[in-house]
Amino acid sequence: MSAPQNHSAEPRTIGILGAGRVGTAVGRQALKAGYGVMVATSKPAEDIALMVQIMTPGAVAVTAAEAADADIVVVAVPLHKCRTLDPDLLGGKTVIEAMNYWAPVDGEIDDFENDDRTSSEIVQDYLAGSNIVKTLNHIGYHDLEVDGQEPGYEGRRALALAGDHQGAKDLVSRFINRIGYDAVDAGPLEAGRSFQPGTEIFNGSHTAEQLRSILSADREPVRL
Ligand SMILES: NC(=O)c1ccc[n+]([C@@H]2O[C@H](COP(=O)([O-])OP(=O)(O)OC[C@H]3O[C@@H](n4cnc5c(N)ncnc54)[C@H](OP(=O)(O)O)[C@@H]3O)[C@@H](O)[C@H]2O)c1
Repeated sequence: MSAPQNHSAEPRTIGILGAGRVGTAVGRQALKAGYGVMVATSKPAEDIALMVQIMTPGAVAVTAAEAADADIVVVAVPLHKCRTLDPDLLGGKTVIEAMNYWAPVDGEIDDFENDDRTSSEIVQDYLAGSNIVKTLNHIGYHDLEVDGQEPGYEGRRALALAGDHQGAKDLVSRFINRIGYDAVDAGPLEAGRSFQPGTEIFNGSHTAEQLRSILSADREPVRL
Protein backbone atom coordinates (compact mmCIF):
# COMPACT_ATOMS: atom_id res chain seq x y z
CA MET A 1 0.00 0.00 0.00
CA SER A 2 1.37 3.47 -0.91
CA ALA A 3 1.83 6.34 1.60
CA PRO A 4 -1.43 7.90 2.84
CA GLN A 5 -2.67 10.63 0.53
CA ASN A 6 -2.28 14.27 1.59
CA HIS A 7 -5.72 15.68 0.83
CA SER A 8 -4.75 19.28 1.47
CA ALA A 9 -2.13 19.30 -1.30
CA GLU A 10 -3.14 20.68 -4.69
CA PRO A 11 -3.87 17.74 -7.04
CA ARG A 12 -1.59 17.78 -10.10
CA THR A 13 -2.24 14.53 -11.88
CA ILE A 14 -5.46 12.87 -12.99
CA GLY A 15 -5.66 9.20 -13.91
CA ILE A 16 -8.65 8.22 -15.99
CA LEU A 17 -9.93 4.67 -16.24
CA GLY A 18 -11.99 4.58 -19.41
CA ALA A 19 -11.27 6.28 -22.73
CA GLY A 20 -14.81 6.51 -24.04
CA ARG A 21 -17.07 9.56 -24.30
CA VAL A 22 -16.78 10.63 -20.66
CA GLY A 23 -13.16 9.64 -20.05
CA THR A 24 -11.84 11.56 -23.03
CA ALA A 25 -14.00 14.64 -22.32
CA VAL A 26 -12.80 14.74 -18.70
CA GLY A 27 -9.25 14.25 -19.96
CA ARG A 28 -9.42 17.18 -22.38
CA GLN A 29 -10.99 19.43 -19.77
CA ALA A 30 -8.34 18.47 -17.21
CA LEU A 31 -5.55 19.11 -19.72
CA LYS A 32 -6.98 22.58 -20.44
CA ALA A 33 -6.88 23.26 -16.70
CA GLY A 34 -3.20 22.31 -16.57
CA TYR A 35 -3.32 18.83 -15.05
CA GLY A 36 -1.09 15.98 -16.08
CA VAL A 37 -3.48 13.40 -17.49
CA MET A 38 -2.99 9.64 -17.78
CA VAL A 39 -5.54 7.43 -19.49
CA ALA A 40 -6.00 3.67 -19.22
CA THR A 41 -8.52 1.13 -20.44
CA SER A 42 -8.60 -2.64 -20.02
CA LYS A 43 -6.28 -2.90 -23.04
CA PRO A 44 -2.49 -2.62 -22.96
CA ALA A 45 -1.24 0.99 -22.99
CA GLU A 46 0.45 0.60 -26.37
CA ASP A 47 -2.83 -0.50 -27.95
CA ILE A 48 -4.55 2.78 -27.01
CA ALA A 49 -1.59 5.17 -27.42
CA LEU A 50 -2.63 6.46 -30.86
CA MET A 51 -6.28 6.82 -29.89
CA VAL A 52 -5.30 8.73 -26.73
CA GLN A 53 -3.00 10.97 -28.75
CA ILE A 54 -5.84 11.79 -31.14
CA MET A 55 -8.69 12.05 -28.62
CA THR A 56 -6.85 13.69 -25.73
CA PRO A 57 -3.72 15.34 -27.14
CA GLY A 58 -1.23 15.86 -24.32
CA ALA A 59 -2.46 12.93 -22.23
CA VAL A 60 -0.39 9.78 -21.81
CA ALA A 61 -1.68 6.27 -22.42
CA VAL A 62 -0.77 4.12 -19.43
CA THR A 63 -1.66 0.92 -17.60
CA ALA A 64 -4.45 0.95 -15.01
CA ALA A 65 -1.79 0.66 -12.29
CA GLU A 66 -0.04 3.80 -13.54
CA ALA A 67 -3.34 5.70 -13.82
CA ALA A 68 -4.16 4.65 -10.26
CA ASP A 69 -0.99 6.38 -9.12
CA ALA A 70 -2.42 9.82 -9.98
CA ASP A 71 -3.60 12.29 -7.30
CA ILE A 72 -7.20 11.73 -8.39
CA VAL A 73 -8.51 8.74 -10.31
CA VAL A 74 -11.64 9.11 -12.43
CA VAL A 75 -13.61 5.95 -13.09
CA ALA A 76 -15.48 6.39 -16.37
CA VAL A 77 -16.31 2.86 -17.42
CA PRO A 78 -19.78 1.45 -18.09
CA LEU A 79 -21.30 0.44 -14.76
CA HIS A 80 -21.65 -3.21 -15.76
CA LYS A 81 -17.84 -3.25 -16.15
CA CYS A 82 -17.11 -1.84 -12.68
CA ARG A 83 -16.27 -5.26 -11.26
CA THR A 84 -13.48 -5.59 -13.81
CA LEU A 85 -11.63 -2.80 -11.92
CA ASP A 86 -8.96 -3.98 -9.49
CA PRO A 87 -9.86 -2.81 -5.95
CA ASP A 88 -6.26 -3.31 -4.78
CA LEU A 89 -4.95 -0.79 -7.31
CA LEU A 90 -7.37 1.84 -6.06
CA GLY A 91 -6.91 1.24 -2.33
CA GLY A 92 -6.34 4.48 -0.40
CA LYS A 93 -6.98 6.57 -3.52
CA THR A 94 -9.38 9.45 -4.12
CA VAL A 95 -11.67 8.09 -6.82
CA ILE A 96 -14.23 10.10 -8.76
CA GLU A 97 -17.07 7.77 -9.60
CA ALA A 98 -18.74 9.18 -12.71
CA MET A 99 -20.84 6.13 -13.55
CA ASN A 100 -24.60 5.89 -13.66
CA TYR A 101 -27.05 3.06 -13.40
CA TRP A 102 -29.54 3.86 -16.08
CA ALA A 103 -31.53 0.76 -16.96
CA PRO A 104 -33.27 2.23 -20.05
CA VAL A 105 -29.86 2.79 -21.61
CA ASP A 106 -27.66 0.12 -20.01
CA GLY A 107 -30.25 -2.62 -19.56
CA GLU A 108 -31.10 -4.07 -16.15
CA ILE A 109 -28.10 -5.07 -14.04
CA ASP A 110 -29.12 -7.38 -11.17
CA ASP A 111 -26.60 -6.01 -8.66
CA PHE A 112 -27.97 -2.53 -9.03
CA GLU A 113 -31.61 -3.25 -9.81
CA ASN A 114 -32.22 -5.27 -6.66
CA ASP A 115 -30.41 -3.11 -4.12
CA ASP A 116 -31.91 -0.06 -2.41
CA ARG A 117 -28.58 1.66 -2.04
CA THR A 118 -27.31 4.21 -4.53
CA SER A 119 -25.12 2.84 -7.32
CA SER A 120 -22.11 4.65 -5.81
CA GLU A 121 -22.59 2.95 -2.43
CA ILE A 122 -22.54 -0.41 -4.19
CA VAL A 123 -19.39 0.61 -6.07
CA GLN A 124 -17.85 1.82 -2.77
CA ASP A 125 -18.56 -1.60 -1.30
CA TYR A 126 -16.67 -3.22 -4.14
CA LEU A 127 -13.81 -0.67 -4.08
CA ALA A 128 -13.77 -0.90 -0.29
CA GLY A 129 -10.34 0.68 0.27
CA SER A 130 -10.96 3.69 -1.99
CA ASN A 131 -12.39 7.06 -1.06
CA ILE A 132 -15.20 7.33 -3.57
CA VAL A 133 -16.59 10.71 -4.55
CA LYS A 134 -19.63 10.65 -6.78
CA THR A 135 -19.59 13.51 -9.27
CA LEU A 136 -19.33 14.34 -12.99
CA ASN A 137 -22.14 11.83 -13.54
CA HIS A 138 -24.86 14.44 -14.00
CA ILE A 139 -23.32 16.46 -16.81
CA GLY A 140 -23.37 15.23 -20.40
CA TYR A 141 -19.91 14.52 -21.78
CA HIS A 142 -20.51 17.06 -24.57
CA ASP A 143 -21.61 19.77 -22.09
CA LEU A 144 -18.57 19.26 -19.88
CA GLU A 145 -16.32 20.96 -22.40
CA VAL A 146 -18.80 23.74 -23.23
CA ASP A 147 -20.34 24.85 -19.95
CA GLY A 148 -17.16 25.36 -17.89
CA GLN A 149 -16.40 28.94 -16.81
CA GLU A 150 -13.89 30.77 -14.65
CA PRO A 151 -14.65 31.06 -10.91
CA GLY A 152 -16.88 34.07 -10.21
CA TYR A 153 -18.59 33.96 -13.64
CA GLU A 154 -22.23 34.91 -13.14
CA GLY A 155 -24.49 31.89 -13.53
CA ARG A 156 -21.53 29.52 -13.44
CA ARG A 157 -22.77 25.93 -13.62
CA ALA A 158 -22.33 23.83 -10.50
CA LEU A 159 -21.71 20.13 -10.04
CA ALA A 160 -22.78 18.19 -6.99
CA LEU A 161 -20.51 15.76 -5.24
CA ALA A 162 -21.14 13.19 -2.54
CA GLY A 163 -18.80 11.00 -0.53
CA ASP A 164 -18.02 9.70 2.92
CA HIS A 165 -14.43 10.97 3.10
CA GLN A 166 -14.16 14.73 3.65
CA GLY A 167 -10.52 14.98 2.57
CA ALA A 168 -11.27 13.25 -0.72
CA LYS A 169 -14.25 15.55 -1.29
CA ASP A 170 -12.08 18.63 -0.63
CA LEU A 171 -9.52 17.41 -3.15
CA VAL A 172 -12.19 16.70 -5.76
CA SER A 173 -13.91 20.06 -5.11
CA ARG A 174 -10.69 21.85 -6.03
CA PHE A 175 -10.43 19.78 -9.21
CA ILE A 176 -14.07 20.50 -10.16
CA ASN A 177 -13.51 24.21 -9.58
CA ARG A 178 -10.40 24.25 -11.72
CA ILE A 179 -12.06 22.50 -14.65
CA GLY A 180 -14.78 25.14 -14.73
CA TYR A 181 -17.55 24.40 -12.24
CA ASP A 182 -18.70 25.36 -8.77
CA ALA A 183 -18.56 22.28 -6.55
CA VAL A 184 -21.47 21.71 -4.19
CA ASP A 185 -21.06 19.16 -1.41
CA ALA A 186 -24.33 17.21 -1.21
CA GLY A 187 -23.21 15.22 1.84
CA PRO A 188 -22.37 11.54 2.34
CA LEU A 189 -22.29 9.08 -0.54
CA GLU A 190 -25.91 8.19 0.11
CA ALA A 191 -26.87 11.79 -0.78
CA GLY A 192 -25.85 11.02 -4.36
CA ARG A 193 -29.40 9.71 -4.69
CA SER A 194 -30.36 13.35 -5.39
CA PHE A 195 -28.37 13.43 -8.61
CA GLN A 196 -28.80 9.97 -10.02
CA PRO A 197 -30.60 9.50 -13.38
CA GLY A 198 -34.20 10.65 -13.34
CA THR A 199 -33.70 13.42 -10.79
CA GLU A 200 -34.13 17.16 -11.30
CA ILE A 201 -30.40 17.68 -10.88
CA PHE A 202 -29.54 14.95 -13.37
CA ASN A 203 -31.93 16.35 -15.94
CA GLY A 204 -30.93 20.00 -15.71
CA SER A 205 -28.17 22.57 -15.46
CA HIS A 206 -27.94 24.51 -12.21
CA THR A 207 -25.94 27.15 -10.39
CA ALA A 208 -24.54 26.45 -6.94
CA GLU A 209 -27.43 28.30 -5.29
CA GLN A 210 -30.01 26.32 -7.26
CA LEU A 211 -28.27 23.03 -6.49
CA ARG A 212 -28.17 23.80 -2.77
CA SER A 213 -31.85 24.62 -2.80
CA ILE A 214 -32.78 21.36 -4.56
CA LEU A 215 -30.52 19.33 -2.27
CA SER A 216 -31.96 20.90 0.84
CA ALA A 217 -35.55 20.28 -0.37
CA ASP A 218 -34.57 16.63 -0.94
CA ARG A 219 -33.38 16.42 2.68
CA GLU A 220 -36.70 17.74 4.08
CA PRO A 221 -38.77 14.96 5.66
CA VAL A 222 -41.87 14.13 3.63
CA ARG A 223 -45.01 15.28 5.46
CA LEU A 224 -47.95 12.89 5.13
N1 LIG B 1 -22.78 9.74 -21.69
C1 LIG B 1 -22.70 10.74 -20.84
O1 LIG B 1 -22.87 11.93 -21.19
C2 LIG B 1 -22.34 10.44 -19.42
C3 LIG B 1 -22.16 11.51 -18.55
C4 LIG B 1 -21.74 11.25 -17.26
C5 LIG B 1 -21.51 9.93 -16.86
N2 LIG B 1 -21.72 8.91 -17.72
C6 LIG B 1 -21.39 7.54 -17.25
O2 LIG B 1 -19.99 7.36 -17.49
C7 LIG B 1 -19.72 5.96 -17.69
C8 LIG B 1 -18.90 5.81 -18.97
O3 LIG B 1 -19.70 6.21 -20.07
P1 LIG B 1 -19.10 6.41 -21.53
O4 LIG B 1 -20.24 6.88 -22.37
O5 LIG B 1 -17.85 7.20 -21.49
O6 LIG B 1 -18.72 4.88 -21.90
P2 LIG B 1 -17.99 4.36 -23.22
O7 LIG B 1 -17.94 5.44 -24.25
O8 LIG B 1 -18.62 3.05 -23.54
O9 LIG B 1 -16.48 4.09 -22.74
C9 LIG B 1 -16.15 3.18 -21.76
C10 LIG B 1 -14.65 3.05 -21.65
O10 LIG B 1 -14.34 2.24 -20.51
C11 LIG B 1 -13.27 1.38 -20.87
N3 LIG B 1 -13.20 0.26 -19.91
C12 LIG B 1 -14.00 -0.81 -19.76
N4 LIG B 1 -13.59 -1.59 -18.74
C13 LIG B 1 -12.49 -0.97 -18.21
C14 LIG B 1 -11.62 -1.26 -17.13
N5 LIG B 1 -11.79 -2.34 -16.34
N6 LIG B 1 -10.59 -0.41 -16.87
C15 LIG B 1 -10.40 0.70 -17.65
N7 LIG B 1 -11.20 1.04 -18.67
C16 LIG B 1 -12.24 0.20 -18.97
C17 LIG B 1 -13.59 1.01 -22.31
O11 LIG B 1 -12.47 0.51 -23.00
P3 LIG B 1 -12.15 -1.07 -23.12
O12 LIG B 1 -13.47 -1.80 -23.19
O13 LIG B 1 -11.34 -1.15 -24.38
O14 LIG B 1 -11.36 -1.39 -21.88
C18 LIG B 1 -13.98 2.40 -22.84
O15 LIG B 1 -12.82 3.14 -23.19
C19 LIG B 1 -21.07 5.25 -17.72
O16 LIG B 1 -21.31 4.66 -16.47
C20 LIG B 1 -22.07 6.39 -17.97
O17 LIG B 1 -23.32 6.11 -17.39
C21 LIG B 1 -22.12 9.13 -19.00
